[in-house]
Amino acid sequence: MLTLRALEDSDVPLVSEWLNKEHVKRWYELPHMGVGIDDWLAEINARDGDFKWITYQIVLWQGKPIGFCQFYRCEDSIDEDFGTMPIEGAYGIDYLIGESDYLGRGLGKQMIGLLMETIGSFPDAKRITADIDQDNRASARSLLSCGFVLLDDEGSRYVWEDKSKQVI
Ligand SMILES: CC(C)(COP(=O)(O)OP(=O)(O)OC[C@H]1O[C@@H](n2cnc3c(N)ncnc32)[C@H](O)[C@@H]1OP(=O)(O)O)[C@@H](O)C(=O)NCCC(=O)NCCS
Repeated sequence: MLTLRALEDSDVPLVSEWLNKEHVKRWYELPHMGVGIDDWLAEINARDGDFKWITYQIVLWQGKPIGFCQFYRCEDSIDEDFGTMPIEGAYGIDYLIGESDYLGRGLGKQMIGLLMETIGSFPDAKRITADIDQDNRASARSLLSCGFVLLDDEGSRYVWEDKSKQVI
C-alpha cells in the first residue's frame, strides 16, 4: 500500500540523495529559472522558517520510503508565475519517486492520487496544479491519467479542477 507521511528531520539526507539521482535531477534542475538541486534542498532545510508554507511529505510503499512530494497554497508562492490559472483555492504540487526500482509500476499515479485526496479534503481547495517540463512524459502521463488537463498549448502547467467545489 502506498501512503504519505510528514517529512521528518532524519529523512532529509535520503531526500537529498534522491534529488541528486540522475533520473530526478534532470527534471528538478531548472537552469532557465536559475534553480539547482541546492535550492530545493535549501527550501526543505528552511521548512520551519521561510518555507513553512510548504507541506513536505515522504512517500512510503509498504512502509519503505521511496519518494518525496510537497504541496502549498498557490497564494503563498508569491514568486511563481501561474499564467491564466485562477490562484484562489489553488494548490501546487511537486513529486518524485527517488528509488528507481519503483518507477514505472503505477506508483506515480497513486502518489498523485493521494495528494489529490489530501488536498481535496481541505475546504478551500478548488484546483491542483503542477508545472512540469514539457519533455517529462512520465510526469505528463501520470497527471493526465489522474484527470489533470494541460492549461494551454504553449505551457507545461497542468490543472485539476474539483468540480464538487465549483460554483455553478
Ligand atoms: C513522474 C513520476 C512520478 C511518474 O511515476 P511512475 O511511477 O514512474 O509512473 P507510473 O508507473 O505511475 O505511470 C504513469 C504514466 O506514465 C507513463 N510512463 C511511466 N514511465 C514513463 C516513461 N519513462 N516515459 C513515458 N511514459 C511513462 C505510464 O505508461 C503511465 O501512463 P498511462 O497512465 O497513460 O498508462 C516518476 O517517473 C518520477 O518520479 N520521475 C522522476 C521525478 C520527476 O520527474 N518528477 C516530476 C517532476 S514534475
